[in-house]
Amino acid sequence: MSKALILIVEDDPTQRRFVQGSLESEDYSVLAAGSLKEAVAAVERHPVDVALVDYKLAGETGIDVIRAVLERNPLVTPIMITAYGQVEIAVEAIKAGAYDFIVKPVDFKKLMLVIDRALERHKLRQEIQVLRNSIDEKFRFENLVVVSPKMEGVARLAGKAAKSDVAVLVSGETGTGKDLIAKTIHYASRRRNGPFLAANLPSLPETLLESELFGAEKGAYTGAVDRKIGLFETASGGTLYLDEIGDLSLHLQVKLLRFLQEKEFTRLGSSKPLKSDVRIIAATNKDPERLVAQEKFRPDLYYRLNVIRIVVPPLRERREDIPALVDHFLRTISRRENRTIRGLTAEAMAALMRNSFPGNIRELENIIERAVVFSEGDTIRLADLPAFIDERENDAVFEPPGSLEEKVKRLEIREIEKALAEAGGIKSRAARALGITKRILGYKAKKYNLSGDEKTND
Ligand SMILES: Nc1ncnc2c1ncn2[C@@H]1O[C@H](COP(=O)(O)OP(=O)(O)O)[C@@H](O)[C@H]1O
Ligand SMILES: [Mg+2]
Repeated sequence: MSKALILIVEDDPTQRRFVQGSLESEDYSVLAAGSLKEAVAAVERHPVDVALVDYKLAGETGIDVIRAVLERNPLVTPIMITAYGQVEIAVEAIKAGAYDFIVKPVDFKKLMLVIDRALERHKLRQEIQVLRNSIDEKFRFENLVVVSPKMEGVARLAGKAAKSDVAVLVSGETGTGKDLIAKTIHYASRRRNGPFLAANLPSLPETLLESELFGAEKGAYTGAVDRKIGLFETASGGTLYLDEIGDLSLHLQVKLLRFLQEKEFTRLGSSKPLKSDVRIIAATNKDPERLVAQEKFRPDLYYRLNVIRIVVPPLRERREDIPALVDHFLRTISRRENRTIRGLTAEAMAALMRNSFPGNIRELENIIERAVVFSEGDTIRLADLPAFIDERENDAVFEPPGSLEEKVKRLEIREIEKALAEAGGIKSRAARALGITKRILGYKAKKYNLSGDEKTND
């Protein structure tokens, strides 16, 4: 700990210099103030540990000083100095927040004793404060399961990001937790009371997307019957999460870059620059460096977004997280479904641990959700898991030998499973992602026995 900082509040210069000199010779750092105003200025500017306050000041009382000082910094420990016989003042001082009092003429030895005790208390209070802050932080991160060293690294970076206000770029496969991490950062940041808004970029055609993000003036495009306020404006004071940034058109990339550089943007159909206080967190399931190399993404925008970069590893590269994630989902899903599930059989857990999870945590979540719904007892058995789970190749590098036909079949199975997992079991969506019709997907899934009792509702 650095040297303790003591503030003396005393209007008599002789007395002030005397106490200051004595304390400095005891190796304390000392600030001196002659009035309430000077005392307040001192605690506002310096991390004062203990304030030694004389009761009788010209025009003010030490009680006023104690109140004003504590109002500015409640961690200061005040000590009151009173004239002999003023017990009622001492009592009043304690009520106002003084830690102790000393009677004039000041016995220097006694003063040192009281100061040391006050400093001890000060240190304790600081420790409690630090502890409380770290509990708060844990609390805010509680929805994020972190076990593996890789996820610890991610959580540490997210914590750093929460303490700053710069742009963040989160990259990782679909279902690895990018949305959740963005939210976690927002709710742990000073913007937590502001809005967290998410824009899913590829879901809209260009013009609509532009007006969705930046707003549009009346008549800016066909159908713009009213002025539209965009997400950049609505999210002011909070965080705007731009999902799948890799799909942003070059035109919108320029607008986003301008915003990041100048905090300025224009509504569609207007040239009037508007300002907004928004923090940007961008995400992509593609490799951003590759997008830049392919000239699909502007390098200047990439550098602006990449100030803090969080790479979320796929679940198969951090299997240590699986049991804790299973627990987490069992708890939340069985509560929601009003079921009591105690856990998984060893066999079922082993199958999950072996699984390759092409759909990552989203896939695991879907599997658990389905198992909770399908299980009959209070334990999830292997039979409650999808049929493919126990057989799936989990090591893409290890290819068992076989004919070309067998290899193609394996590849096809793997890709279909992956698409189904990413689509949350919705076949029409998976088919679209694979570029085949829903009918062909259904046929193949049946042929390879993939659909089993997969969700059929679309
Ligand atoms: N570390 C984690 N702890 C708990 N739940 C997680 C974790 N990572 C992801 N999830 C959950 O998995 C699902 C998919 O995560 P999401 O953030 O939507 O992934 P992405 O945006 O990368 O596709 C969500 O329901 C999310 O809450
Ligand atoms: Mg996402």
